[in-house]
Amino acid sequence: MSPDPETTQPSSRRSYLPVPLDVFCPDQPLPFSLYSSADDSTLALACPPGEALSAGALKVWRDAAVRVLYIDTAEHRLYQQFAEAAMADIIARDDLPSRRKVELCYATTRELVREACDSSNLNLEELAGQRREKWADSLATLVCQDETVLDGMLSMLLHDYYTYTHMVNVSTMVTALAYRMGQRDHDKLSMIASGGLLHDIGKMRIDPDTLNKIGPLSEQERDELQQHPVLGLEFLHGRENINPQQLRMVHQHHEKLDGSGYPSGVVGGEISTEAQMTAVVDIYDAMTCKRPYRDAIAHQQAISVLTEQAGTKLNAEMASLWKETIERAVAGADSD
Ligand SMILES: [Fe+2]
Ligand SMILES: [Fe+2]
Repeated sequence: MSPDPETTQPSSRRSYLPVPLDVFCPDQPLPFSLYSSADDSTLALACPPGEALSAGALKVWRDAAVRVLYIDTAEHRLYQQFAEAAMADIIARDDLPSRRKVELCYATTRELVREACDSSNLNLEELAGQRREKWADSLATLVCQDETVLDGMLSMLLHDYYTYTHMVNVSTMVTALAYRMGQRDHDKLSMIASGGLLHDIGKMRIDPDTLNKIGPLSEQERDELQQHPVLGLEFLHGRENINPQQLRMVHQHHEKLDGSGYPSGVVGGEISTEAQMTAVVDIYDAMTCKRPYRDAIAHQQAISVLTEQAGTKLNAEMASLWKETIERAVAGADSD
């Protein structure tokens, strides 16, 4: 049973959100109030704003197998900023397995992208700015630190249909593929992770009714949708913290080697290596995600499509490496 917030705050109608205990380290002052579950139906104030949790308190919860604490929904933004800033600390901790570290960073980043892409409060500047860098840096650090994290991190991705989940998934997948292709440079991996996170940012400027339409798109709607790489490029172009490789990931991830892609119909080597990698994992994630208008397509079927397109539309080496990488991750998840 979830705790009843009104028991804690009888005079107000507050609501509370669970947050992972693992995000918190000892002696970090919190900018918000933190609550713990006192029993099945009551929340108790565990740490007022401005104070820090002690190592002892954290140990008691961990020993009692507590997984979540609670925050006031009204303080969610403060929590989100705190969790983003805590990513580097989480990565540096030696009491958490690598997979758990990725899970925590993934959840925080998903929330950042969700907030930025929220249609009622669209704020793409949040994504175009530096906030995404913490994710990209953390992901690159984890992958470089512990190669074995690759399989676990790919099997934990959520495959719901939201564009924001897809952007974080593509970021994770393209980083894994770059690593498998031999990229070991932390800064390059971080740049690729960051570009992957931005790759579909132009979709946020497309009518959501077109994005989520059930049934086939009209020619006009398809034309509109196919503008998203250009819209993304226009939005990001000229920004200080975006480099040309990232711009090409955004602009060229739907191009095909044989020239049948969009928006420009460029061929072969005119498509950057990073954009070619993005194309492979983008197709895989788009097919294996549930959509409002169809169920997720099975992993095996998505792999068959990649194999069919390898060499003609997609880079054959990348498609084959991705197949190997994701099959290992899926096999690992099945045997868990
Ligand atoms: Fe796209
Ligand atoms: Fe995409």
